[in-house]
Amino acid sequence: MPKEHLLRLRLDGERVTSRVTPATTLSDVVSERSARPVPEECDDGSCGRCLVSLEGNLVHACILLALQADGANVVTGDGVPERGIGARMRRVLASGENPCGKCASSLVLKAADGARRRLTAEDARALFFENPCGCGTAERVWPELAALLEARRLANAAVERVKAKKGKKKRKFHHGGTESTEEAPEPTKEEDGETEQDGETEQDGKTEQDDEEESGTE
Ligand code: FES
Repeated sequence: MPKEHLLRLRLDGERVTSRVTPATTLSDVVSERSARPVPEECDDGSCGRCLVSLEGNLVHACILLALQADGANVVTGDGVPERGIGARMRRVLASGENPCGKCASSLVLKAADGARRRLTAEDARALFFENPCGCGTAERVWPELAALLEARRLANAAVERVKAKKGKKKRKFHHGGTESTEEAPEPTKEEDGETEQDGETEQDGKTEQDDEEESGTE
């Protein structure tokens, strides 16, 4: 009987403790302790169905020993932040006819990861279609994800512009031979290039990107 070890990790935000052997895979633990079993297929890391986020990096849980994840933060497609693009993708997937139970979780994680890492559309697409399932779901939802990522890119660019302008608020000038500083007047919304969308993007001073970055997933 192989010796058992105590494993502790955080799974979709919940603390999990489990007794595992050195041969137990992360996939075994996630299947046993998460809301739904990992749809294992190949067991050799080639199909991509068992994708999880481990400390913010996407990994195939079927080829990772559980003990390698001891103390780590593990997220499945069910655990991505509610305000982020991954969760939006989860809702899109759930709303389709006959959603595929095998690739949905991995597509949610890929969407979140693409958003978090601010991948270009080309790179996000490459990630999204890696390890194709063949069920047609990725092809069906990709246009919606591409639109979400583009909206995010534009919103982030607008936020960066506002931040850059605020950084220039204090300007130095020479006043009667004496150098002093002066607070520049607050720009109007129009001068600031701020749009209504910017306001929505920075609700509570946080962006969806912040949520995803804090979660270490997406
Ligand atoms: S089950 Fe296929 S990659 Fe893990």
